[in-house]
Amino acid sequence: MNINENYKNLEESYLFSTVAKKVNEFIQKNPDKKVIRLGIGDVTRPLCKAVIDALHKAVDEMGVQSTFRGYGPEQGYEFLRQAIQKYYKKRNVELELDEIFISDGAKSDIGNILDIFSTKNTVLVPDPVYPVYVDTNVMAGRKVIFSDANGNNGFLPLPDENINADIIYICSPNNPTGAVYNKEQLRKWVEYALKNKAVILFDAAYECFISDESLPHSIYEIEGAKNCAIEFCSLSKTAGFTGTRCGYTIVPKSHEKLNKFWLRRQTTKFNGVPYIIQRGAEAVFSESGQQEIKENINYYKENAKIISDTLEKCNISHTGGKHSPYIWLKCPNNMTSWEFFDYLLENIQVVGTPGSGFGKNGEGYFRLTSFGSKENTIEAMQRFEKLFK
Ligand code: MLT
Repeated sequence: MNINENYKNLEESYLFSTVAKKVNEFIQKNPDKKVIRLGIGDVTRPLCKAVIDALHKAVDEMGVQSTFRGYGPEQGYEFLRQAIQKYYKKRNVELELDEIFISDGAKSDIGNILDIFSTKNTVLVPDPVYPVYVDTNVMAGRKVIFSDANGNNGFLPLPDENINADIIYICSPNNPTGAVYNKEQLRKWVEYALKNKAVILFDAAYECFISDESLPHSIYEIEGAKNCAIEFCSLSKTAGFTGTRCGYTIVPKSHEKLNKFWLRRQTTKFNGVPYIIQRGAEAVFSESGQQEIKENINYYKENAKIISDTLEKCNISHTGGKHSPYIWLKCPNNMTSWEFFDYLLENIQVVGTPGSGFGKNGEGYFRLTSFGSKENTIEAMQRFEKLFK
């Protein structure tokens, strides 16, 4: 057999696995120290009541002959797709039910979608960005080019007419920088994609954190986007589903082949998300579910403010936090991202994510998440202040 040699072109291990390994090594050597993890964007608030009630009810249904369910539709149950359809309608985005596909989270579908695209395509990825976009394309041997996101463009690169790209990734609000495109800026990307017959893969996993209602939550708020964009969303950060696993992908029918091929791919390789989980996900979109998840999101936003205020006091330049759970900061004293990671771990036992793990433009930057508990966030920032003020 021949192995997929493209894997040799990847970093030795996935960014968050490397971070976890380093932290575990530190803990083994220093078992008495309390480490505070503000690295991986993993939620800490429990699932809300509306979701728990729906999960319990669905569990009971599975134990009764008349309501038991076996294989579900690969594309997801209609009740959940209808809830998502309504959710989009609130922003005047019209979706047909068969344009909505239920997934076990955005990460899987962001990787899986590549099955329907030729490996000859050139891929344009912003740098820095969520490492999954690059890694999944490197695995398939696609050519990856980058658009620079930096302080000069507010970490929001715009299309360059001199560059030819077939597949374009956009993550807004951005992971890791927290920057959000406004409608005018997103329109430029849509126009570019339509003109170049490219597809935009729009990652909306953090849309719920947008505070300013004039900013777009979905690429379909831009005219023409249904002709060139696929959107991925997840309940992980929105509703605390990192361990429960449910998301959704919108593949418009305006491009008939994309929708048809994706359905073909899913029916062959995927047996759907468990019924119980889809009932829990449906409850996220109910009135009480929306109210309850908002309380959790506000909790994380308060953490973001605590982090941001501390960095301000320490004169550390930073962005993000306002429309995103991530705070993106410039490492003090010209330290590299990994130097700063080690420095924080050794001195104050606070874990963050090195910016260089998100791309070359992330070198010299560092990401902190607001997904910790309030107590831990306050304690981490007190340690931070002692070290830097
Ligand atoms: C992150 O920390 O960037 C995210 O938690 C990773 C993910 O969502 O897979």
